[in-house]
Amino acid sequence: MCGIVGYNGSENAAEILLEGLAKLEYRGYDSAGLAVRNGTNDVEIVKAKGRLRVLAEKTNDGKALKGTLGIGHTRWATHGEPSENNAHPHISDDRNVVGVHNGIIENYQELKEKLLRHDYTFYSNTDTEIAIKLIDYYMKKYQEGPVDSIARAMMRIKGSYALAVMFKDYPEELYVARKDSPMVIGIAEGATFVASDVPAILKHTRTVYYIGNQQIAKIGKGTAEFYDIDREPIQLEAEEVTWDAEAAEKGGFEHFMIKEIHEQPKAVRDTISSFVKDGNIDLSEAGLSEADLAAVRSVIIVACGSAYHVGLAGQYVMEKMARIPVRVELASEFRYRDPILCADDLVIVISQSGETADSLAALRLAKEKGVPTLGIVNVVGSSIAREADRVFYTLAGPEIAVATTKAYSAQLAAVYALAIQLAAVRKQINEEEYHDLIAELQELPAKMDRVLEDKERIQWFAAKYSNAKDMFFIGRGIDYAISMEGSLKMKEISYVHSEAYAAGELKHGTISLVEEGTLVVGVCTQNGLFEKTRSNMAEVKTRGAYLMGLTSYGNYAIEDTADFTVYIPRTSEYFATSLAIIPLQLLGYYLSVARGLNVDKPRNLAKSVTVE
Ligand code: G6P
Repeated sequence: MCGIVGYNGSENAAEILLEGLAKLEYRGYDSAGLAVRNGTNDVEIVKAKGRLRVLAEKTNDGKALKGTLGIGHTRWATHGEPSENNAHPHISDDRNVVGVHNGIIENYQELKEKLLRHDYTFYSNTDTEIAIKLIDYYMKKYQEGPVDSIARAMMRIKGSYALAVMFKDYPEELYVARKDSPMVIGIAEGATFVASDVPAILKHTRTVYYIGNQQIAKIGKGTAEFYDIDREPIQLEAEEVTWDAEAAEKGGFEHFMIKEIHEQPKAVRDTISSFVKDGNIDLSEAGLSEADLAAVRSVIIVACGSAYHVGLAGQYVMEKMARIPVRVELASEFRYRDPILCADDLVIVISQSGETADSLAALRLAKEKGVPTLGIVNVVGSSIAREADRVFYTLAGPEIAVATTKAYSAQLAAVYALAIQLAAVRKQINEEEYHDLIAELQELPAKMDRVLEDKERIQWFAAKYSNAKDMFFIGRGIDYAISMEGSLKMKEISYVHSEAYAAGELKHGTISLVEEGTLVVGVCTQNGLFEKTRSNMAEVKTRGAYLMGLTSYGNYAIEDTADFTVYIPRTSEYFATSLAIIPLQLLGYYLSVARGLNVDKPRNLAKSVTVE
């Protein structure tokens, strides 16, 4: 998730662009850049690694760049590590086309090969450079102008993009296009503003156009003309923005956490599309061949917090599906207990930030012992990503709320991919089962959307029980792993004392804490364990507990026991965590809201824990 801005008017562009970019920093930042045109002069480009402040210093807050037409970008790396070279804007070989991009181009490899055949050279590791050079290629080949060349490039590009592009021979115009990545165009007197999100332009105008999917706009000074992908002119209606600036930054959501909860289907879809190629799982981007996986005798997953809970769910999935031994360890424990590791183990370190001190130390320890390591990491170029032998990137985009949601879901998708691939190379599933599992995986994002549609019921329930003091989450197998994450969300943001218990273990202690009105959530997504957990739920009910049941549609017998039930769509039992976690995230969120707490920044907690 990157941030784009553009300006065409009569004031100095760079200063306005920098101000706009500052409003988009929440979208992630590891580098930033500006390109400004001053009449027919050659375009000027300045880029900087790190926060936007570095770019501002380099350009004297934009004053050092002269020109009234320009584009800017803050980057959150998805292809290529964060560096000045990979930062946007990117430019074609003869400086004819310069542009910025937000999104992921899935077929960049194929497009790069095409361009290499036409003598293009590449200086960065970004998919954006390919998009810009593809536009340049069509510009030269057909000589029908910017709209035509952008449309032709759009027809070739697979994936998502928001593009803002300037052309050498069109010194008064800016061109933009989008598909599945956001972009808004603001019109003021004599000036037009472009941005990935409304906050970047609110200071200047509230009159905006939301350009549609696969549409192109030609931006003049205070004007915008629109075209469809067939280059036909189209009319769009201008709209007035009524949100205040802060609400706008959260896309209209009240908190980043609820926004990120809603971004989960996209995070999972993007992550799945990064490894499913032509109907098969391809982990070559993570550097994992089938032979590499076939050589693995056992897996050790090491992580902290929610990432550890991904490991716990992953353990059930991998062991059952691939029949491979899996150990899951808290990084803070692993690093100090001289773990027994063998050369044919695979140590997987899961981390959103890639900077968690204990997880990094665990990785270094595994490397010291000569064991192959794999990082499942969200932040490109982070320490764990740099130091692990191989990296499997999750594509959740930047996560702002301290309590993780979408990164957790994307990590699960990565773990499923490994499980399926391990199962295939170990011949534990046949061809048909392999493809059924991939098809099921690809259906998860739509099913996650359906779970989100039911959020009002959870909101109601949370409001009713907002005074809860203690809460217990119980389940068996994968449902126990789900319970652990549900319980953590509750503690983290709602400050309700909560515990997750393996349902069968309840009677060995915890049940003595259950009294009249204690809230207990029973998670029952696994058919073979449904009746077992349901009888544990009945046990706590007879001791006065108020019971929430969480199960799949069809398991209506749960209503005989639970006082309140939430259903999730049916999916393979292996992937149930991805759906069942959403109501529990929502429960933690709405309880925190009902109690008037600081949801996005809970007390005493940090997003990235870089001390042990
Ligand atoms: C912190 C965050 C958690 C996260 C954990 C591990 O405690 O609040 O949400 O799960 O760190 O972080 P990592 O970046 O390694 O996934």
